[in-house]
Parts: sequence; structure tokens; C-alpha cells
Amino acid sequence: MNPHVEVLADLPTLIDRALDLVLEKLQSSIASRNIATIALAGGSTPKPLYEKLAQQNLPWDKLHIFWGDERYVPADHPDSNQRMARLAWLDRVPIPPENIHPMPTDDGDPAISAQKHEAELQSFFKSEPGEFPAFDVILLGIGDDAHTASLFPHTEALQVCDRFITVGDKDGNPRITFTVPLINTAHAVIFLVAGANKYHALTQIFADEADTETYPARLINPQGELWWLLERSTNFAK
Ligand code: 6PG
Repeated sequence: MNPHVEVLADLPTLIDRALDLVLEKLQSSIASRNIATIALAGGSTPKPLYEKLAQQNLPWDKLHIFWGDERYVPADHPDSNQRMARLAWLDRVPIPPENIHPMPTDDGDPAISAQKHEAELQSFFKSEPGEFPAFDVILLGIGDDAHTASLFPHTEALQVCDRFITVGDKDGNPRITFTVPLINTAHAVIFLVAGANKYHALTQIFADEADTETYPARLINPQGELWWLLERSTNFAK
């Protein structure tokens, strides 16, 4: 499907647009299936979105929260994506604790943690063998190297196509990450991109030809909707 690309004047405007989109998708899923699933992005860009989601009046018992990737650090570590989302959002709303499904990072071995989370998702979605579950919303960012989630350039994680969850590698630091096929099964993928440092990555992601190993975000082409919300500071006009 052709991506929806929107350039927003500044970060607050981008966040407001993202909030509208996310609420629309989640409320539609809840209305039709009485449940909604969202996988959160880490990093800094989405934090104000999570803070605005904390101010919403959603049927929290019908919403299930996952993460698209996680640094392999304790849940209370300053670098933890789980910690960021809990402080910005989840600790501020009455969402049932069992509706929050963090990636485990306390097994002492990222491969074991990845396998555990795979099993949790298979159980939650009641997946048939070989079937990938379709998240209602997956939020993503990109690095200035065009990584997304923890799918970094020239890493083995980019090739994993038979699992939901794998181990990512950022300069030797282990990550837990959704795989490309899991992301590409989503009903809606929404990229949030801000900052002039993302300009080059965007030019390569949207180029007619470029190497996907070098620019991993090029691998994201979901069955459902693909949204790119770009802050004007990226200077990218497709
Ligand atoms: C992470 C993220 C990562 C992030 C990008 C952009 O764990 O860091 O999942 O993929 O989305 O690095 O990060 P910023 O929003 O901080 O630029």
C-alpha cells in the first residue's frame, strides 16, 4: 500500500496528529473487536504522545500494550523503553496490569528473553504455526542510520523471518525487537520522525533504489496502513 506521508510544522503538531491517528485506530478496533493492541516505540520522539494518551478517557481494560523493541536493561533503568512509557503514560491511567506486556530483559540472556516474549505473543494472539499476529497499531521511529525498532543496519536481525521476536544489536549492545515480518503484518504502522538529523536517512528510505541492509526502515511495508508523520525540521518533502 502507498504510504501516507504528512509533514507537520513542528513537534507539538506532529504529536497532536499522531494522537488523532492512534485514537482513531484503537477506538475502531475496540468498537469492532472489543479489544485493541498497540506496540510502542522507544526513544524520545514518542514521549509527548504517551503523555497525551495519559490524558485520554479510553476503555483501558480493552487496550493491550506491547513494545516494538527494548534495550536489554532492567525495567527501572533510565534507558528502558518500558520505564519511559510507564512514567509518561501507563502509571497515570487505570489500565489493568495484565494488559501491559513488556519485553522481558531479566533472563541474563537476550535470546532466552526473545523466546519467552515470542511464546507470550503466540499465547496472547492464539497464533497458528507460521501465522504472524496483526497488531492494530505499531508505532516506530527511525535513527539517523535509518534503523527502526532495534533493526540496525547490517545486523542478523534484519534476516529473521520465521519468528515474531529476535535479538537486535546496537554496536554490541543487545536489544529485543519485533522482526520485519511481524511489523509488516500490522493493520497500521505509524512512523514518528523529528529532527534535521533524520534528513539523510529519510532520503534513502524513500529513494527509488537503496540498500535495505544499510537502510533497514526500507523493509517496513505493512499489509495494512503505513503512515509517516514527519516534522518539518527533517526538511524532507517527498
Ligand atoms: C529505541 C527505539 C528506536 C527509536 C529511534 C528514534 O529503542 O531507541 O525504538 O528505534 O525509535 O532510535 O529515536 P528518537 O525518537 O529518540 O529519535
